[in-house]
Amino acid sequence: MEQGSVAYSMTMHDFDEAVHAIREGRLVAFPTETVYGLGANALDSSAVVKIFTAKGRPSDNPLIVHVAKKEQIGPLVKTISPLAQKMMDAFMPGPITLIFDKSDLIPYEVSAGLDTVGIRIPSHPVANLFLEKAQIPVAAPSANISGRPSPTTAQHVFYDMKGKIPFVIDGGECNVGVESTVVDVRGEIPTILRPGGITAEQIRELCGNVDGIGSSLSQTGSYAKALNQDTPNVPMAPGMKYRHYAPKATVVLADAPDYRQRLDMIFKLMDKYMKENRKIGLYAGNEMVQAVTEMDGTKKETDGTGKDLYMLSYGPDGDAAAASAGLFSALRDMDDHSVDIVIAEALPIMGIGVAYMNRLLKAAGIKIK
Ligand code: TXA
Ligand code: MG
Repeated sequence: MEQGSVAYSMTMHDFDEAVHAIREGRLVAFPTETVYGLGANALDSSAVVKIFTAKGRPSDNPLIVHVAKKEQIGPLVKTISPLAQKMMDAFMPGPITLIFDKSDLIPYEVSAGLDTVGIRIPSHPVANLFLEKAQIPVAAPSANISGRPSPTTAQHVFYDMKGKIPFVIDGGECNVGVESTVVDVRGEIPTILRPGGITAEQIRELCGNVDGIGSSLSQTGSYAKALNQDTPNVPMAPGMKYRHYAPKATVVLADAPDYRQRLDMIFKLMDKYMKENRKIGLYAGNEMVQAVTEMDGTKKETDGTGKDLYMLSYGPDGDAAAASAGLFSALRDMDDHSVDIVIAEALPIMGIGVAYMNRLLKAAGIKIK
């Protein structure tokens, strides 16, 4: 399968059947550039309710509505302010969801009782073809069982949803790997409710101002603490209060502002958990994994604990885009390898590093305001 093109393992006939199914009120999972979505006709409340059942999702967590084109947004919302229009023109299609006041077309099942609605136009060509052919707005959360890491391959969806939904459209690996940035554009200043694929820096550059999660961060001390403190007065996206992205393993962070300190912390954590006879998973950059491999070699000779280590590198050290792209898949992979403790490298909270750290904190069960 070719990444980023309209090539998928299913035939065009299968694809048309999936389009037919969603129009008929059934659920269809489809790829986007962020994560796989579990779609239903957003205008059909009985179809939308099936999403909550399939995922085991709390009914007070609203769904994002996906459309193929900007022209489809007008009827779904009350007004498009100049700020909203500016954000739409700059970032759609792409990994962003904008919050509007909803029109009466959007059922309360979609908005979870709110008078607002999140709208997104994915940039993934398969998502776009699907939405274009379906000719309906599609409500879609991430296609995982509630609480699990979001799916970034069709196989992840299949694992969570087999027997529950009729179709998964396979579009290969999602290249952003963390979900869209949720931005409230109803006020004067765009407000980030969930950090994601479009960064606070990009929004600030466009609008001159940005509020919400990750909009004014300090880069000293613990990244986790800094991120937590930068969520002052903003009501977060309703769904963000739930435990999320959690593998079966316990996730701990190697969280320090410089590479050497992070590496030392990894060594210390490994030492501690190996003494407790726990199987450790490490998610870190190439060089860090290499450094640990070398250390592990010496350990193996002396006390034989090295075998209880499973390491995954996200790519070049400090590459937050690569770390984000691989995170959810790595968490699932760690579970497949029966890891007890995942030690994951914290990264600077800037750019897409904010989204990476936000997901990592949630996976670690660290409370985010
Ligand atoms: O990248 C994405 O956004 C993926 C793909 C499939 O598009 N979708 C996704 O959906 O992540 P979900 O349901 O897993 O997360 C939706 C987030 C939740 O945190 C939810 O609370 C927030 O968006 N949200 C949705 N509608 C909202 C609204 N009206 N007001 C505030 N937040 C909203
Ligand atoms: Mg989700």
